[in-house]
Amino acid sequence: MTAKLIKGTEIREEILKEIEQEVKDIKAKHGKVPGLVTILVGSNPASVSYVTLKIQTAERLGFHEIQDNQPETISEADLLALIEKYNRDESINGILVQLPLPKHIDEKKVINAIDPDKDVDGFHPVNVGRLMIGGSELKFPPCTPAGIQEMIMRAGIETKGAEVVVVGRSNIVGKPIANLMLQKGPGANSTVTIAHTATRDLASHCKRADILIVAAGVPGLVKPEWIKPGACVIDVGVNRVGEKKSEKTGKMVAILRGDVDFDAAKEIAGFITPVPGGVGPMTITMLMKNTLKSLKFKLGIA
Ligand code: GUN
Repeated sequence: MTAKLIKGTEIREEILKEIEQEVKDIKAKHGKVPGLVTILVGSNPASVSYVTLKIQTAERLGFHEIQDNQPETISEADLLALIEKYNRDESINGILVQLPLPKHIDEKKVINAIDPDKDVDGFHPVNVGRLMIGGSELKFPPCTPAGIQEMIMRAGIETKGAEVVVVGRSNIVGKPIANLMLQKGPGANSTVTIAHTATRDLASHCKRADILIVAAGVPGLVKPEWIKPGACVIDVGVNRVGEKKSEKTGKMVAILRGDVDFDAAKEIAGFITPVPGGVGPMTITMLMKNTLKSLKFKLGIA
């Protein structure tokens, strides 16, 4: 069997078109567009490229976008004051502080300073609580887990009663995707197991999974014989395993590998996400969706 590929690049385009249309409709009816501020501290190359992509996507969708670059040396107090300014700014619906932050700044304090109703990353403890409660309490699911759920739904995979095994317990992916899949409702209602570094016999857990979500950050961790034939495999791992010369530009580029042995796994799974081009493109897409949602909550039309 050769698995059907779930391509994030294609699903992203579908969702962005839907958002673009909704932005136009809301603008015509309410005279408002979603406002997103991206705060970047310093010039970490990976952060700069993520933030650039976020701005480009927001602009394409017709959002009001503010790019607020701050020097590496900004004090914690000044950063907190900046966040407070955007908390009060009526034109801003989403505040994103690009992580990681320099060592002299306490990330927790910064996340806690963002108004939970503008926390489109879904990292604030209030939003973590809302996710745990679920249903109408849920406002901003974290972007990567929200993207994973969207991919599973759009691939037409049955989640109700399905055995979902999540490998990895991070606050950004493992814990929130487990919570999302556990909720009642469409695209969820699953029986969820979270496996992690202390799990005994990881293989036996993976073998039970109808939907296997791997976010461990270990290249090739999941072996093909751990996959149940026909299962849906979502590989969240993006591991740099080396460098190669790009055929297009001649420049050195990273060789990326997922947490799943893709070539062998695709012969057993029913559905699988590639790396790159799988889960990756969904994160920024869902950030845009959360920012639109934030405006809709404010307008009372969500
Ligand atoms: N750094 C890497 N990924 C993310 C993300 O999703 N949100 C924020 N704020 N920073 C990040």
